[in-house]
Amino acid sequence: MTTPAIPGYTLGTSNVARSPLSDEEFALLKQTVLLGEDDVRSLRLAGEVLDDQIEAVLDVWYGFVGSHPHLVYYFSGADGKPNMDYLGGVRRRFGQWIRDTCAANYDRAWLDYQYEIGLRHTSAKKGKTDGIASAAQSINLRYLIAFIVPITATIKPFLAKKGHSAAEVEAMHTAWFKSITLQITLWSEPYVAPSTF
Ligand code: HEM
Repeated sequence: MTTPAIPGYTLGTSNVARSPLSDEEFALLKQTVLLGEDDVRSLRLAGEVLDDQIEAVLDVWYGFVGSHPHLVYYFSGADGKPNMDYLGGVRRRFGQWIRDTCAANYDRAWLDYQYEIGLRHTSAKKGKTDGIASAAQSINLRYLIAFIVPITATIKPFLAKKGHSAAEVEAMHTAWFKSITLQITLWSEPYVAPSTF
């Protein structure tokens, strides 16, 4: 069975910006968030645990964004109202992103797609993938960083749902937190001057 293509999802294709980070710089960043082989194993397990819960996770995250006007604003069209096509289009890529986060092998294609996702949160590419003239030009960096907390806190009950031990759940959750911090750090690159990143 082939999986239907997700519109705008371009990981591993030529339609992705190239990360300016060198392999050495990336390796040092991974060391800095303490991401090791144990974490990679825990993320693989998290991928199995989350596989049939993706829609439920997305319901929680979309509920969180939807109940905060200062966040849902970023999904508004030029008329200032939430654009359902935009929310729906991003949701499919968001679901794939959960899977990719758990399956990541941190190769160059993965690294490039992190840079691409960062660009999609900024005026360079925001709205372009879904053909939306959005109200906001960019998602403010402060919310991107602050969002690490809800994205990490809300995943734990889902990680605990399949009967794993407290220690296994904790290991999956810690690995998730490291991966999200690594990714948001990479996504912040287009927001800042190259010399300060
Ligand atoms: C796009 C995750 C913060 C609004 C995306 C995508 C993912 C994602 C996976 C789709 C990437 C793709 O195109 O393949 C995250 C994570 C965040 C975060 C993990 C922080 C931990 C935020 C915040 C907002 C936001 C704070 C503001 C409400 C959006 C919007 C898009 C998007 C509007 C669509 C961008 C476009 O036009 O292509 N995000 N996001 N994100 N996110 Fe975020």
